[in-house]
Amino acid sequence: MKTLFRVAIDGPGGAGKSTIAKRVAKILNIIYIDTGAMYRAAAYKIKKEIPHISELDLNLINDSEEYKQIKEIIEKMDIDFKDGLIRVDGEIVEDKIRTPEISMLASGISKLPIVRIYLGDIQKKIASDNNVVMDGRDIGTNIIKDAELKIYLTASLKVRAKRRYDELKEKGKIENFNEILEDIRKRDFQDQARELNPLKKAEDAIELDTTNMNIEEVVNFIIREAEKIKRNKIN
Ligand code: DC
Repeated sequence: MKTLFRVAIDGPGGAGKSTIAKRVAKILNIIYIDTGAMYRAAAYKIKKEIPHISELDLNLINDSEEYKQIKEIIEKMDIDFKDGLIRVDGEIVEDKIRTPEISMLASGISKLPIVRIYLGDIQKKIASDNNVVMDGRDIGTNIIKDAELKIYLTASLKVRAKRRYDELKEKGKIENFNEILEDIRKRDFQDQARELNPLKKAEDAIELDTTNMNIEEVVNFIIREAEKIKRNKIN
């Protein structure tokens, strides 16, 4: 059996998971899977096919018409990460999924068992036979429970909102700072409160508060931990 090295990075929105996970994967020379992008891509597809969908519908009941439609959309949808770009049914959606509207909808649909189970199975399959850095909300607690290294990244709400704000500003998408902060607060609550696989630190994860750290410091910390584990495995 192949010896695997898998890094699970979880934490709330705006904690820098994706940027950090991508760099860690590059240094370790292993693949990177952004599971948040999968929920975002699913939200994008659902919004495209059911334009009137709102978060309110998502609090409903399993046998609504929308729920059936969502089930069909999810089961037909083809997601892939070729060349590091996320595609849904062949369409590159990288930029279209990073809007505040899709952020909220992704958090909303991630409560639905049909969505979690379907995307979770794809993620578990990838992690079952690949060295991988995977980031999300439930990687350490659900997707890769036996990951060799688990990191739980946090930062103060204000700093996380500022990072998101700067990111959007850099892309020329000016947003209101307070609205971003409120969206993150709402999303944190929603992601932590859901019944199925909520955002939570795994008991065996290392918690790292990045409020006063820069990207390089966080990456270096994770790489040092990864090297310690690799050394122990060899000895
Ligand atoms: O990491 P992100 O902000 O791109 O994730 C978008 C939403 O997707 C997040 O608010 C909750 C959901 N998500 C999830 O439920 N489980 C994951 N493993 C990753 C993301």
